[in-house]
Amino acid sequence: MKILAIESSCDETAAAVIEDGRKILSNIIDSQVETHALYGGVVPEIASRRHMEAVVRVTECALEQAGMQADEVDAVAATCAPGLIGAVLVGANFGKSLAFSLGKPFIPVHHIRGHIAANYLEFPDLKPPFLTLVASGGHSLIVLVRDYTDFEILGGTRDDAAGEAFDKVARVLGVGYPGGPKIDKMAVGGDPNAYKLPVSHVKDAPMDFSFSGLKTAVINLAHNAEQKGETIDKSGLAASFCRAVVDTLVPRLAHAIDETGVKDVVCAGGVAANSWLRQALTDMAKSKRVQLYLPPLSLCGDNAAMIGAQAYYEFLAGHLGTTAQNAFATAEI
Ligand code: KG4
Ligand code: ZN
Repeated sequence: MKILAIESSCDETAAAVIEDGRKILSNIIDSQVETHALYGGVVPEIASRRHMEAVVRVTECALEQAGMQADEVDAVAATCAPGLIGAVLVGANFGKSLAFSLGKPFIPVHHIRGHIAANYLEFPDLKPPFLTLVASGGHSLIVLVRDYTDFEILGGTRDDAAGEAFDKVARVLGVGYPGGPKIDKMAVGGDPNAYKLPVSHVKDAPMDFSFSGLKTAVINLAHNAEQKGETIDKSGLAASFCRAVVDTLVPRLAHAIDETGVKDVVCAGGVAANSWLRQALTDMAKSKRVQLYLPPLSLCGDNAAMIGAQAYYEFLAGHLGTTAQNAFATAEI
């Protein structure tokens, strides 16, 4: 089954053709990052307009790369939630209209389910049940994937998402948007003990966490240094911050492994590209003797291939049309 998938929930307009949820026939991403970098973050109105300009061209490119005509696809899928609403609507309504005009099924896909499904494209043997650490710009969750469309949230952030914290710290350190990759780079060779930063603990909720205290600590540190005219060891601060994020996330996931006894563990979302997190997860998996699946860097950030992968399993579960879209519009996953 060949699914044409569209993704437009934030600042990438993307289209892909995916076969049977596992094979990438094409994968096109038109990034708006350079535009939003001028403003220090994503400007929703501009994002929607850019999606409007790009969505047809990007879809044509995806079909061409797959060597297909539009009427040869078996279904059309699109991210329908969550995301910047104006941005989501462009891809979702384009996908729905295209499906309608072709007389093919339309499959609405939850963006975070898509991030998790990115792993199916890289690892043919990966099957539920497995545990997932989702760390993106908008979400940070520990999820038990019971089946392809059956998810249980075991824990998550009480405030900021991990990626959001990276982006805010990057802004304070003056390295601009998008912050995650820049902080990751800046931390190379830095001393993770250069600054003592807080790691959150949520009382009576061992798989929940928080990033607001960490974020505030870095902001205060930077402002105090500025007031006193002191220079910050930026590389050390970036490394200390990466270490604190990792020390927040990885023990919670380790706890989830102990609680559930699940032996397959996956990471998903933009922050899954972080080199400190990848290393720490690799070390943890080794010590816990679990199988770790890390998505390739090319599939960590937003893309439509992951939407096409999840769409296949949503289709098999009969989740078609607009009803499911409404049902999960406000759902966490
Ligand atoms: O999953 P994603 O592409 O979009 C959302 O669904 O939110 O995640 C984007 C987030 C951004 O906050 C970005 O700064 C972060 O992922 N990110 C990283 C890295 N690459 C992207 N954070 C830390 N280290 C990275 N290498
Ligand atoms: Zn995303």
